[in-house]
Amino acid sequence: MNPSDVKATLSFSDGSPSMDLPIFKGSVGPDVIDIRKLYGQTGKFTYDPGFLSTASCNSKITYIDGDKGELLYRGYPIEQLAVGCDYLETCYLLLKGELPNVSQKEEFTKLVTNHTMVNEQMQFFLRGFRRDAHPMAIMTGLVGGMSAFYHDSTDINNPEHREIAAIRLIGKMPTLVAMAYKYSVGQPFIYPKNDLSYAGNFMRMMFATPCEEYVPNDVLVRAMDRIFILHADHEQNASTSTVRLCGSSGTNPFAAIAAGVACLWGPAHGGANEAALTMLEDVQKMGGVEKIGEFIKQVKDKNSNVKLMGFGHRVYKNYDPRAKLMRETCHEVLSALGQNNDPILKLAMALEKIALEDEYFVSRKLYPNVDFYSGIVQRAMGIPVSLFTAIFALARTVGWIAQLNEMISDPEYKIGRPRQLFNGAAARTVRPINER
Ligand code: CMC
Repeated sequence: MNPSDVKATLSFSDGSPSMDLPIFKGSVGPDVIDIRKLYGQTGKFTYDPGFLSTASCNSKITYIDGDKGELLYRGYPIEQLAVGCDYLETCYLLLKGELPNVSQKEEFTKLVTNHTMVNEQMQFFLRGFRRDAHPMAIMTGLVGGMSAFYHDSTDINNPEHREIAAIRLIGKMPTLVAMAYKYSVGQPFIYPKNDLSYAGNFMRMMFATPCEEYVPNDVLVRAMDRIFILHADHEQNASTSTVRLCGSSGTNPFAAIAAGVACLWGPAHGGANEAALTMLEDVQKMGGVEKIGEFIKQVKDKNSNVKLMGFGHRVYKNYDPRAKLMRETCHEVLSALGQNNDPILKLAMALEKIALEDEYFVSRKLYPNVDFYSGIVQRAMGIPVSLFTAIFALARTVGWIAQLNEMISDPEYKIGRPRQLFNGAAARTVRPINER
């Protein structure tokens, strides 16, 4: 870490001695005040629920400038990666720090595709679920269950194990998500076909049947690949921080990633794409574009508990760059499928326009995030709403594993153990039950 010449001085109004705190500079972005010795020297903790002002780690992987609306993977703008690279190149970049050259890409692709099949026994584990189980419930189980199938890659302190676990997770996630889907619709599982691209293979496992070969549509495959790239990493969000915290105990990578899947499921995080589409469908049922005014009124009413899903972000206080790319993809996909007049797309565009001009959203800097349009794209491709978050999990797996491996390789890494401001009862005595 790069120390700054400037120091922060913490002083107290009760005359307790003040304390100098070192400051570290990042390559870009805000400096951080190092408070690691604060408790030792002052007996006080800092208080920051929700991590509004706390950097939980130092990282070299992903950088977001929320005010500018900028997202960089290892320094490369998401807009350039989305146009000039595919998902597996992006995975290589996130894991290794550099974009691959031709032979590195070939070797990496071969490695990942060699791991696309899952242990045959996993389907019996999957068959234990109800057919109507939510795909994220299934994914949490299956990813955690991988710990029981791949014993030779569970030692998180062994760099080789970490590398094999990363490749296995990236290779097998599409297979598992497609299996969860096939199971829910009662169709046979389709085995991976390794001469297809990563996204093409996933689409085939989703939509082919043993009776009919699936011919991938290039526009849709490219759109799916873009969805994967846009969701691949997003620095220290809730699920990534969950993976880091879970992995910090030394648990195996599959268990740590399963924790990330569970966290991603929530509607304030990865579940927002499902929630955004459900919201658009509800407004459509209410009367569509005509009813936007009424709906926005509900959103602004603090007592209604209604939110404009797919809007707002903890870090972006400007247009989410992923939302712009997703909107572009949305138009490409709907036009390739001859669905330009899709009423849900029209409704989304009208809702976006009104929200971007409304004082409530403008003053709070609430802009569309990636989830506002991703649901419309996936729905047009024939993906059921309940599977959206599982596809997000598939794409985010590389980010989780890159961040987990970065943490474990950091010599300063410690088990994560937050402290608390305790407001409960002080020590008291248990009285016998008949005296209470
Ligand atoms: N609709 C209406 N009001 C909102 C919204 C929204 N979507 N988002 C924030 N606000 C209001 C919020 O009520 C608050 O108003 P006030 O200052 O009057 O109390 C203000 O804006 C600040 O919001 P906040 O809840 O303090 O912001 P946060 O940083 O804690 O929450 C968020 C961020 C993403 C959880 C929130 O914006 C939200 O719930 N959005 C909808 C869900 C969503 O789309 N999530 C996907 C995030 S992007 C995908 C990912 O990376 O996981």
